[in-house]
Amino acid sequence: MEMQYLQGFGNYLQSEAEPNVLIPGHNSPQKVPLGLYAEQISGTAFAMPRVNNLHSWVYRILPSVMHGDFKNFSHPKLLGTPFDGMTPPTQMRWGPPPYPKKPTHFVGGLMTMAGNGRIDLHCGGALHLYAINQSMQDEFFYNADGDFLIVPQEGDLIFKTEFGILEVVPGEIIVIPRGIKYQVILKQENARGYICENFGAPFRLPDLGIIGANGLANPRDFQIPVANYEQRKGNFTLIGKFQGHLWSAPIDHSPLNIVAWHGNYTPYKYNLNLFNTIASVSFDHIDPSIFTVLTSPSTTLGVANIDFVIFPSRWIVADNTFRPPYFHRNIMSEYMGLITGKYDAKEEGFVPGGSSLHNSMTAHGPDAEAYEKAVNQSLQPEYYAGTLAFMFESCYVWRVTQQALTAKFREADYLDCWKGLRWNFKYTHRE
Ligand code: FE2
Repeated sequence: MEMQYLQGFGNYLQSEAEPNVLIPGHNSPQKVPLGLYAEQISGTAFAMPRVNNLHSWVYRILPSVMHGDFKNFSHPKLLGTPFDGMTPPTQMRWGPPPYPKKPTHFVGGLMTMAGNGRIDLHCGGALHLYAINQSMQDEFFYNADGDFLIVPQEGDLIFKTEFGILEVVPGEIIVIPRGIKYQVILKQENARGYICENFGAPFRLPDLGIIGANGLANPRDFQIPVANYEQRKGNFTLIGKFQGHLWSAPIDHSPLNIVAWHGNYTPYKYNLNLFNTIASVSFDHIDPSIFTVLTSPSTTLGVANIDFVIFPSRWIVADNTFRPPYFHRNIMSEYMGLITGKYDAKEEGFVPGGSSLHNSMTAHGPDAEAYEKAVNQSLQPEYYAGTLAFMFESCYVWRVTQQALTAKFREADYLDCWKGLRWNFKYTHRE
């Protein structure tokens, strides 16, 4: 059974795959039952205020120090900071990435689209796509650089993690916090999706202010795994991502060997269909911050290092209102993806698996077709069904990578979608 996850609210949970491993009151007993080793994993500084303090105690067959020397290996498509390439202010859009022809597992199938900030200063993030056709079997992965917020778009996945197993399907997300080891197993032939790697403060639920105690993503709908250990021995590889590079070390046992744990630093998943959408019931739009699922705050109050925002199926009822997302330019930088269905500012052209990038102060908005439809439609309450788009929004400019700029699946003609917007105004002489 999966349990609820209450990140950022001071709740500490526990799970045992074997009975009586956890000893009340003692995190690090002189002898752990069953000959296990105690280890603490801290996701925040020790002295972080309690409300945001993330840490877990784990009781495992062998401690995590038991592996060989790390050796660097290259992964030409996975990039880290500094993201310092020339980024044009042009609006950009990509189709879905192609699936690989050669056997490719989750780590091998990563491709970095953009990034910002600094890994070593714990600021900013990176945006990756994954397109894979192979499960991880003898490889185990962890990322010391940041959390992975993974948004599957096609293909169900099984995440075997140190804390237990989580299955994720398109429409759900999973967050694997910094440092946690795992494998990704395919349930179908192929899988692809989006990843936001967060170098900054861990994702948390946004505060609700005068919305009150309920709404948006509710804490009770976040799920975490239960303890589930392996006793596998063999010639395995531990892959670490550290300072933007990949490292491999031999390991002679599965590191998924935690028999019991307690704490609040674990992987978690969330079904985006459970997001309680809030919007205007009179006229006009509320700012899209109301669609925030998770936020990684920066050090400036109200400014996000990264926000994860979704545009799900919802009633659209605003009266005398231009209903699609309006034309705008803003300080934040927006990378969008489409999980399923259509996006109401661009009903054609922006396809599931595709993505778009509108950086700071780059103008964007509905395409000509969506504009014409919106200004002429009769405004009845409308259920916008079967859609799920999302955005990774940062206060730092997303510096696009050279491989994303020149990718075959980039749409060279994206700007044409606004070409049909007509000059309707007719000059009127006024004295
Ligand atoms: Fe926008």
